[in-house]
Amino acid sequence: MTDPESLLAAMTLVEKIGQLTMVSAGFTVTGPVMAEDATEAVRAGRAGSVLNLFGREGAHALQRIAVEETRLGVPLILGFDVIHGHRTTFPIPLAEAASFDPDLWERTARAAADEAAEDGLSMTFAPMLDVARDPRWGRIAESPGEDPFVASRLAEAKVRGFQGGDLSAATAIAATAKHFCAYGAVEAGRDYAPVDVSERALHEVHLPPFEAAVAAGAAAVMPAFTDLAGVPMTMHAPLIRGLLRGRLGFDGVVVSDYHAIAELVAHGVAAGLPEAAALALKAGIDIDMMGSAYERGLAEALSRGLVETAEIDEAVLRVLRLKQRLGLFDDPYRRGAPGDPAASADRRLLAREAARRGIVLLKNGGVLPLSEDVRRIAVIGPLAEARAEMLGSWAGAGHVEDVVTIVEGLRAALPGRDIRSAAGVTLAGEDFGGNGALDLCRAADLVVLCLGEAAGMSGEAASRADLGLPGHQRDLAEAALALGKPAVALLSSGRPLTVPWLAERADALLATWFLGCESGNAIADVLTGASDATGRLPVTWPRSVGQIPLFYASRRSGRPFEAGNHYTSKYLDERNDPLFPFGHGLSYAAFEIGPVTVAPAELRQADAFDVAVEVTNRGERAGEATLFLFVRDEVARVAPPEMVLRGFSRLALAPGERGVMRWALTDADLAILGPDLEPRAEPGAFRILVGTSADPKTLRAVTLRLVA
Ligand code: GLC
Repeated sequence: MTDPESLLAAMTLVEKIGQLTMVSAGFTVTGPVMAEDATEAVRAGRAGSVLNLFGREGAHALQRIAVEETRLGVPLILGFDVIHGHRTTFPIPLAEAASFDPDLWERTARAAADEAAEDGLSMTFAPMLDVARDPRWGRIAESPGEDPFVASRLAEAKVRGFQGGDLSAATAIAATAKHFCAYGAVEAGRDYAPVDVSERALHEVHLPPFEAAVAAGAAAVMPAFTDLAGVPMTMHAPLIRGLLRGRLGFDGVVVSDYHAIAELVAHGVAAGLPEAAALALKAGIDIDMMGSAYERGLAEALSRGLVETAEIDEAVLRVLRLKQRLGLFDDPYRRGAPGDPAASADRRLLAREAARRGIVLLKNGGVLPLSEDVRRIAVIGPLAEARAEMLGSWAGAGHVEDVVTIVEGLRAALPGRDIRSAAGVTLAGEDFGGNGALDLCRAADLVVLCLGEAAGMSGEAASRADLGLPGHQRDLAEAALALGKPAVALLSSGRPLTVPWLAERADALLATWFLGCESGNAIADVLTGASDATGRLPVTWPRSVGQIPLFYASRRSGRPFEAGNHYTSKYLDERNDPLFPFGHGLSYAAFEIGPVTVAPAELRQADAFDVAVEVTNRGERAGEATLFLFVRDEVARVAPPEMVLRGFSRLALAPGERGVMRWALTDADLAILGPDLEPRAEPGAFRILVGTSADPKTLRAVTLRLVA
């Protein structure tokens, strides 16, 4: 008996609640509650899914217990946080977003799914789709950045990559769009803090990536830990049953975050586990992850009439249908087949490509690419030889020993150079043993400063109130810079860091984030010029914490900043503009952006229009241009944002080569949410702006008129 309806009909209440329970096998700890013995829970039929276990043997052993030792033999879903690679670690998601390359986003997800499925996994708790505009929040590292259009394209690519065309295939894993929703707007950037955004911000900023994920066929959704204006997402029936399942037509599984159902008690909305279980079930949460709320509270909730049997059955049916779609009834052991050994070499090449494409050249005063004359290089700073840090947060099954450090990458790329390294200081310690490092700088032709954060200073439960360099890194950097040698500064971090002093004084500055197992090789590829620097900022880079939240698509003010006019929007002690704008990133080429053309320049509702712009590489080196297309609604019934991103595109050009970038758009791309929160392009004038970043100085504009 393997059809969901018959299985459901045969189940006892305990077995039904078991299918709604996911326990952790404890291979890795990702939450505050420690795992009990998953094996016993599975054998007793009290767990229908397991997380945090991977590896063919263990997965098959546990699956065999479920299939052969339980009364109905329902196979398990095995889930894991395959966030940026599995055994082969790719750049953290924020770094991967910097590539603005949907094809790459899909390819890394596909590669990760291959490895995860080889390890017996059938679900990943990814992609994380929280639009993040507050770098104090550590989970910005896992995010697609500040822009909902980018997040939506990433959602589509990741769902395609993880799930492939057939979810029952041996290498397909269920994608989980998370964390539904607006988690990135936590109060004061503090993880798990309350969220209170307007209905408009919810629909303009936070929901679009989830709409895109559902449209792309995401098999599962995970609500956020947080509340939304006082209603915890884990019980938010209007958004889960109403919008997600109702309006968007999502018929997949909603899996809670870790222990989140039980935490409804801490939120102050449930007196105990029965009430918490009832609130979550009625909101449409199917699986209780590591919460034991369903296991310990749902039967009582049923006996007290807080829930109906039909509501339990509906949830169980969705879980069983997902297992059916995953092919688990046909063959519970389909995943876990050994992969092609040659594929792992390809995945490392992909990791190097993805890492390269995540690197953002923020400043280049002419010292990069490294010239042949640079023979002696001092590589100093606590990240110079750091290995584990390069994996970043959520590196799950990644192998530290696989990591190529920055020093190793440079030495491999520059065998004839004299490359010496010293940490100088620890990442966050109080010591300042810089002398040895400074001696290396004195003897060098060029200094590479390897600065930034520890991997654990971003990711979950890792918010920071100060976004400067931890510990004594600034002391070391300033002492090194004072020696007057050409200096390249690399920032390994999970977020933008407020280092205007470093941007000012270093000759070159790069955001190298945490780039995964191929970090050192990718950094060397860019520093040597073997590859162009093609990464662009997926988040606005603030000068100081006081500016946060700072993002390009801000709504206009009635008193926009005007130098010299006191009564305009400004700070007394800080500039309004960011250190580096959204989309910023230099190339080794020199691109000239021609005029933007739009055809037709006047259109009616539902008409299509084309935008084109010529790009010429006026430089002496080949490079890749990335252009962004923004739309600015000049006048609407609701105050429009400054502008909104509606396209991005990349074009590789040889020196002297000219190319044309084109976008095919419709009036839907002009739409913003009207007073009723419905998308509408109102007749009137629009500016189409194309350029290399959200900085108005880089944008070429043309006017388009929409007539009724
Ligand atoms: C964590 C995270 C979530 C993750 C889950 C399982 O607490 O919030 O993103 O998927 O638990 O590890």
